[in-house]
Amino acid sequence: MSKITLKKIYSMKKKHIGIACLTAYDASFAKYIDDCGIDIILIGDSLGVVVQGHVNTHDVTQSDIEYHTGLVSRGNKNAYLISDMPINTYNTPKQALKNAKRLIRNCGAHMVKLETDVTHLKTIELLTQEKIPVCAHIGIKPQRIISNSEYRKQGKTIETKNNILNEANLIEKAGAKLLIVECIDKTLANTISKKLSIPVIGIASGKKCDGQILVLYDLLNISFSGVPKFVDKSFFQIKDIHKRIKSFIKKTKNNSRV
Ligand code: KIV
Repeated sequence: MSKITLKKIYSMKKKHIGIACLTAYDASFAKYIDDCGIDIILIGDSLGVVVQGHVNTHDVTQSDIEYHTGLVSRGNKNAYLISDMPINTYNTPKQALKNAKRLIRNCGAHMVKLETDVTHLKTIELLTQEKIPVCAHIGIKPQRIISNSEYRKQGKTIETKNNILNEANLIEKAGAKLLIVECIDKTLANTISKKLSIPVIGIASGKKCDGQILVLYDLLNISFSGVPKFVDKSFFQIKDIHKRIKSFIKKTKNNSRV
């Protein structure tokens, strides 16, 4: 297996080969899923819930993400690494640049992810100018969510659909290199994937995106806080972890968006 680069990820989009992404937070799991052939590993701020045991992601800090990015980076060989920027670490373009540089230069991340709205366009522009690749995250933004009851499908009305589509276009224009869409209408997710030239990775947004992402502990049904509805909960044994990860990668690769 060879190193996954942004160029390879873009060529997967062109060839309609699904881009398979999972989260990881430590060296052992990073090595495990990298050996299974995962394309992208996200050091997600979901670690606040699945690793630290909080009710949401709001307590995760810059130093938590730096620490976990370092661990994942040591275990990983080939996958493309994205570090999540925690809440309140990218409130201004200048603050975002300082923190993103630390993740890329000191910890081994290849890209940073921001939960994005139109107020972050200047930040995306600045990071892009400074050669820091940005992944934007739209739809449900867990850093804005207080309780699980707020996890409702986004983009169901014409107005919200147009807003999300417009947001996605502006994000691409600002220079983002990847887009994650969380919990949005599946037809809208497919439209965004077709319209944008950057790869669009979905979670709870239907099968027809350029790729799929899942929280690893959800995929393995070992998330202490409960596994989301859209995740396969069929019984499997710990010895079948390899099979389950391989099957997620295979299903994602086969579900090209056209
Ligand atoms: O923090 C995270 O793990 C995420 C994914 C669910 C997309 O943002």
